[in-house]
Amino acid sequence: MTTASPELAAEWAERMNPLPGHAVRAAVSTGLAEQLDTWTTLTSIHRAIDADPTAVRVLVEYLESLGLVEREGGTKLRLTPAGRLMLVSDPYGFAQHWHTNSFAHRIEAAFAQLEESVRTGTPCYELAHRTNLYRDLRPDSGHLAEAFSSAKSLTQHSARRLAEWIDIPEGSTITELGCGVGQYLCAVLSARPSLTGVGVDLPAVVAHAESDWATQDDVQGRIRGMACDIFEDVPTGADLYLLCNVLVDLPEQRATALLGRVARADDEVRLVVVELASDLAPPALVTHMNLHQFAMTGGRLRSSGELRAIGELAGFACVDETALGGGILALSLLSS
Ligand SMILES: C[S@@+](CC[C@H](N)C(=O)[O-])C[C@H]1O[C@@H](n2cnc3c(N)ncnc32)[C@H](O)[C@@H]1O
Repeated sequence: MTTASPELAAEWAERMNPLPGHAVRAAVSTGLAEQLDTWTTLTSIHRAIDADPTAVRVLVEYLESLGLVEREGGTKLRLTPAGRLMLVSDPYGFAQHWHTNSFAHRIEAAFAQLEESVRTGTPCYELAHRTNLYRDLRPDSGHLAEAFSSAKSLTQHSARRLAEWIDIPEGSTITELGCGVGQYLCAVLSARPSLTGVGVDLPAVVAHAESDWATQDDVQGRIRGMACDIFEDVPTGADLYLLCNVLVDLPEQRATALLGRVARADDEVRLVVVELASDLAPPALVTHMNLHQFAMTGGRLRSSGELRAIGELAGFACVDETALGGGILALSLLSS
């Protein structure tokens, strides 16, 4: 049997994922995209275009995952700057923007390097774009809004559960490392008005997060950002550190080294780790996420046992744990 040529393999890859193009086409031709030109809701959209409510929700959520729709307060929706290009009558303008600027397309383009990545173990994203995925998020390109647009809606439930579970004295300070838009930190601060928070991330991400926090009345004045490379330096002085969905981006040595750095940040360190755990999440999601993480950052999902084990290797003892729902695990660790 002869194997397929690289050209044919590339064509297969293209055909296997025709969904983004069809989703954009459906959004434009049904008038759904036009409805999203200003803030609106799912109910207003399906009434205005006389469409099936479930299909409208599914399509809008898919466009959100492509970074074409953004959400505020859980229900208000509108097009992102990239999504607004769907309204431009020249479809090539949209295609050109999609191919040159959109973050979702940079991810798609990175997958073209999978063969080389499988051979060398270097993440596809680095092979394709010569930089780390997070350092590639450019503040002026809409990438940040695109990358973090779905974070809040996807983690709403688990963030609330975390806020109920976390045991911390009144008046404490929580520092979230690699916070993104800090939806877990915000949920805890929102539930506990005496707490203050520090969100640590790369400079462009912190600037984006701070503008987001400024619109949230329930945390305003109690949360601030700190630009810092957590692989170089972990800020001291937190009563509790939070590390949510950061280990999944990292291969073994880097994950253990980061946890070790956190364990040594102070004399006694309390750390809560939140991660999608491979033994709790649905198997199909685990398979998908593992390839996605390998290709994008070189990381992978870990089981509850593996997460506890790397914590222990880095100098922590696991004192408590809980499932937050949706396959997400929270571990409470104490430096020993
Ligand atoms: C998968 S996201 C998780 C974001 C957030 N904690 C959450 O649960 O949604 C990983 C985060 O780590 C941040 N990050 C990556 N490298 C970093 C570094 N060297 N220093 C600080 N933050 C970093 C990224 O910018 C990103 O916000």
